[in-house]
Amino acid sequence: MSRVLSLSRSSWTGTDAEAARSATASLERGAVLFFPHLPFVVNQDEDEIFSPAILSSSKNTSFDPATGRVGGTTLEGPSLDRLRTLLTRFSDAAQGLVREVLPGYGPHMQRARASFRPAQIAGRHSSWRKDDSRLHVDAFPASPVQGRRILRVFANVNPAGAPRAWRVGGEFLDVARRFEPSLKLPFPGSALVLAALRVTKSRRTPYDALMLQLHDRMKEDAAFQASTEQESFDFPSGSTWMTFTDQVGHAAMAGQYQLEQTFLLPVKAMKDETASPLRVLERLKGRPLV
Ligand SMILES: [Fe+2]
Repeated sequence: MSRVLSLSRSSWTGTDAEAARSATASLERGAVLFFPHLPFVVNQDEDEIFSPAILSSSKNTSFDPATGRVGGTTLEGPSLDRLRTLLTRFSDAAQGLVREVLPGYGPHMQRARASFRPAQIAGRHSSWRKDDSRLHVDAFPASPVQGRRILRVFANVNPAGAPRAWRVGGEFLDVARRFEPSLKLPFPGSALVLAALRVTKSRRTPYDALMLQLHDRMKEDAAFQASTEQESFDFPSGSTWMTFTDQVGHAAMAGQYQLEQTFLLPVKAMKDETASPLRVLERLKGRPLV
């Protein structure tokens, strides 16, 4: 059975309590909620920012909704304002959508960064650790989540109609069991050193350390990449989807022009936190990790 759950919603606003309950339960069990009829509309005057040439050195432009700051781009002046307007509009729409689709999370959902990704993925060269065409779960080296969930909303806004091609991995528990023996608890005190050296913006908990290792172990293991349970799925241009990317293995194989908004959610706000990576890893390691 596919992990990608297609939903008929065609509006960014409006609540359906019955649909919300089942969507939340599916999402927590590791589904990708897919909205094939929910396009994020780009305005005509935003055409000029649809080019990889707007990128500075990084692969994405980034946006902090709290400050309005846009990073990762060479754009200036009115062009930069246009990009900021697009990202603000998407960030607000994504926030509204998660509130409607997942109303049970309410005020516990924290809005983090958004990004616009104008680079073509296929054929892009990078080190194995940064290669997102390898199946992985998300973990942030500099911004520890300290056990919170990573929920991401994506919209494919490719003007030429090209899909975003993903591979979607299998059960988190199976992946965690496979790699658990090689996931080492950090040395006591190492989190303080990383924070003091400003490698991390806040304390890297044992959970964060294990998730970073899991991200790496998955990406570097060619046998795992080739043989683990997985499915290929093309998200069409004009579609939107969301998933817990700390739980659901994913690999972006091809595509260009995507918007993404990240949310963080404390596990306590979940309907059932037992499937969360935090609780799974705590069971496997037999100790609290945050
Ligand atoms: Fe990822």
